Amino acid sequence: MKPDEKSGFFLDNHFCFRYNRIRILIGSDDMFRQGEYRIVSKKNLAKGIYDIEILCPEVAEIAEAGQFVQATAEGFFLRRPISICDIDKDKGTIRLVFEIRGKGTEKLAELNCGDNIDLIAPLGKGFKKIGKNKKVICVGGGIGTPPMVSIAKEYGENATAISGFRNMAAVILQEDFKKMGARSVLCTDDGTVGRKGFVTDALRDEIKAEKPDIVYACGPMLMLKNVATICKENGIECQVSLEQRMACGVGACLVCVCKTVKDGEEFNSHVCKDGPVFDSEEVLFDE
Ligand SMILES: Cc1cc2nc3c(=O)[nH]c(=O)nc-3n(C[C@H](O)[C@H](O)[C@H](O)COP(=O)(O)OP(=O)(O)OC[C@H]3O[C@@H](n4cnc5c(N)ncnc54)[C@H](O)[C@@H]3O)c2cc1C
Ligand code: FES
Repeated sequence: MKPDEKSGFFLDNHFCFRYNRIRILIGSDDMFRQGEYRIVSKKNLAKGIYDIEILCPEVAEIAEAGQFVQATAEGFFLRRPISICDIDKDKGTIRLVFEIRGKGTEKLAELNCGDNIDLIAPLGKGFKKIGKNKKVICVGGGIGTPPMVSIAKEYGENATAISGFRNMAAVILQEDFKKMGARSVLCTDDGTVGRKGFVTDALRDEIKAEKPDIVYACGPMLMLKNVATICKENGIECQVSLEQRMACGVGACLVCVCKTVKDGEEFNSHVCKDGPVFDSEEVLFDE
């Protein structure tokens, strides 16, 4: 079997067809698009962190909070996974907020307004939604904050967004939380702005003041583990979004495997296809 010429995937279990310049890939239980889409705005949010808005009505129509895209960085065979930060179904756009970490994201950051970006999207399983009138807390650590924007938006003023950054210069997306009516609790490691300390300290205080119906979190693994522990101690449902290294992004390789447990049975899950969002009780954080 030969890999697909464009995506490099072995599309054995994927039905694939072309509609204009957009390829529609349908797997056994998922559907996503591959195409070149126009960047309609680009902002520099902080040092090395970019916010791009992309016109892709076919993707925006079916995308859900917590899903991600696989973006082509010119000159690289493997795409780079980036969370969908925001979805505007009326405008037909999605936003990606990413930090330059290495050569791939550096290449993505060179793209400008008016350029095209090649995406496979939307991918993975997004956050479980529990009803707009429920109280939720969204916890984002550093560059794990972008996917919290789209899920907090679902709950508006019933959401509290706790986000943590190294210092004032690294703070992003606070205006987005305010615009949607969410309460924003900002934490910095050095206390240069907001509350000094970790997001987990703020989470404990928020839970003490009012117990939420669910907690959503994305950020470093240690932060997710601690958020999961706090939620378990307080009997609160918790959904975590994992950022594992990825290759194919659609469940066709084993690069993104993580250990999970369900009904007492341990098994390997693909973060790209079974996640990136998991019930925190399913994730074996120490494996
Ligand atoms: C589901 C998912 C969603 C993501 N969403 C975002 C996002 O919204 N914004 C954003 O800035 N980044 C996000 N990432 C991380 C992003 O994919 C990596 O930073 C990027 O692939 C690095 O590519 P590179 O070529 O620039 O760096 P590389 O040269 O490949 O690596 C440079 C550094 O980045 C680290 N890195 C590489 N891949 C990952 C990864 N998957 N997760 C964490 N660190 C990594 C490496 O360990 C290394 O230290 C996400 C990752 C996943 C899996
Ligand atoms: S990245 Fe290939 S299976 Fe997940």
